[in-house]
Amino acid sequence: MAKTIIKHLPEMAKARSRADSPRTFRNDIEPSPRLKEFAKGKKYLIKTFGCQANVRDEEIMAGMLEKAGFVKSPSEEEANLVIINTCAVRENAEEKVYGEIGKFKSNATKDPNFILCLCGCMMQEEGVAVKLREIYHHVSIVFGTHNIDKLLDMLDEKIATKKSLIDVLSFSGDIVENLPSTRLDSYKAYVNITYGCDKFCTYCIVPYTRGRERSRAKEDILKECKELVEQGYQEITLLGQNVNSYGKDFKNGTSFAGILEDVAKLGVPRLRFMTSHPWDFTDEMLDVIAKYPNIMKCIHLPVQSGNDEILRLMGRRYTREDYLSLVKKIRERMPECAITTDIIVGFPNETEEQFLDTLSLCKEVGYDAAFTFIYSPRKGTPAARIEDNVSPKDKHDRFNRLVKVVEEGVSSHSQKMVGKTYMVLVDGPSKKDSDVLSGYAENGKLIHFKGPVQLKGSIVPVKVTEDRTFSMFGELQIDPILFLAEKLRMAMDEEPLLKNYLAAKKAAEEDASLGKLRDEIESAQRAMMNLAASHEDEKFASKRKEYLSLMKEYESHPLILNLTSAKEELEPMLSLVAEALR
Ligand code: SAH
Ligand code: SF4
Ligand code: F3S
Repeated sequence: MAKTIIKHLPEMAKARSRADSPRTFRNDIEPSPRLKEFAKGKKYLIKTFGCQANVRDEEIMAGMLEKAGFVKSPSEEEANLVIINTCAVRENAEEKVYGEIGKFKSNATKDPNFILCLCGCMMQEEGVAVKLREIYHHVSIVFGTHNIDKLLDMLDEKIATKKSLIDVLSFSGDIVENLPSTRLDSYKAYVNITYGCDKFCTYCIVPYTRGRERSRAKEDILKECKELVEQGYQEITLLGQNVNSYGKDFKNGTSFAGILEDVAKLGVPRLRFMTSHPWDFTDEMLDVIAKYPNIMKCIHLPVQSGNDEILRLMGRRYTREDYLSLVKKIRERMPECAITTDIIVGFPNETEEQFLDTLSLCKEVGYDAAFTFIYSPRKGTPAARIEDNVSPKDKHDRFNRLVKVVEEGVSSHSQKMVGKTYMVLVDGPSKKDSDVLSGYAENGKLIHFKGPVQLKGSIVPVKVTEDRTFSMFGELQIDPILFLAEKLRMAMDEEPLLKNYLAAKKAAEEDASLGKLRDEIESAQRAMMNLAASHEDEKFASKRKEYLSLMKEYESHPLILNLTSAKEELEPMLSLVAEALR
């Protein structure tokens, strides 16, 4: 690896003992002239694996690249710069990455300036960065989850030195505000509220890859959410590995319930949050969720196991009974609230009886949806050091039995939805059938229905007519043409240019001096007509002069000038509307 500059490499073992306080930076990203020159005419592509934290990182990296001048590539073949944003949560997440890296070899062969970056959680694992760089010579830059804000600097360095670069920081982590971002969706947005995780569940690698838990300042979260509401976003999801630990690190009584309520009050039509840890779930949170209709009644509450001993070994800090009483409390308070979960089977030495406890818990709760996983040992985590006596066959067998029980619960909820009407936020044409639209109901269920594509981004009522367990079919309960026309009318009412025009018009109509001028113009016009009829040419000419001077005075009145410019500003938009209606 002669041509590789290695700046930092990760050290997972130190993760738990790290205590450096997080700092907040407000970085204004300024691409170097060299990078801007390089980016001219070049296309970028980001391939993201893993959870929403990675998706949000992709949006920020896309924002930075676009600021430098790169444009999004329509295909893999055309990309001049590729970033593979990896996940390390399970072995199979990692396996996908090798194929992806190999795939871009041909881009590097075709284009000597091609740049391939690897980043994300997998790069935070010890040994991975160097190994990948050794195997795949077309890898240009490897960085981790803690320095995505330095992406443009790293690219600049790579271009200047022509050497590959490995820079994977490993520390508690900072918070960086003000980074540009290009959101992937124009109706639904993710907003980070916490970064990292302090729970150190014994099987999980996330605390090692994303640093200690740190909360964003309330003002920064509210500013971002307010902007999204102003831009017309229909749904905000507050993100964190444990959203309900929000604010604990401030040690001043700040809580998740507080920020959830503050965001709900901003008036976004739909507010979601993920993930909640059962351990930190407070009554105050329940009060807020129940109080605000725009907070979706859908709680993702990972249980992981239904057996107390396994939960203890996992380091989850709650018992089966704690969990079930929390579920009961949620249902008593909000009977319609959907509850979803994550479950791991085959934790080291899990017995058949312990597994049966998970099955019985699933039956008891009856989840609306569940993500089920076979335990995957993650190097560097405490559980990976336990010698395991459960065979892969038994693990797969338990997994299949679990999936069946989960399905029974899911279908009992979905059957109850048939015949009822739900509000659906339309994502657009469904993946399988472009004539069918799809979107999510408030309870997180996917519903398909027929309707025009223009409904994308709207929240519309759909009556469920058919249950297919993991998705529903339904019928739109409104006339889409009238709905869209009303939406257009409402949008026009809110349109600042139209509002400005109406205000200018009203001011001109109500102004007394202008009213007097209008009367004078009218009487001058009448007098001119009479004089023209009686052929009194001289008098006519003098009246006409008077009329023209009144007109000039009228047209140069500040309120009329203001009205004329308001009208001119509005015209291009009116032409667009007319064109759309044609
Ligand atoms: N912070 C969230 C989600 C973390 S990762 C939470 O605590 O719920 C998402 C899910 O991946 C976890 O809930 C868990 O079910 C699963 N998971 C994490 N580590 C795993 C491992 N080593 N093997 C299998 N599944 C794992
Ligand atoms: Fe992983 Fe546990 Fe943290 Fe979730 S709470 S990210 S499972 S360590
Ligand atoms: Fe994967 Fe990292 Fe998310 S390990 S699940 S991308 S936090």
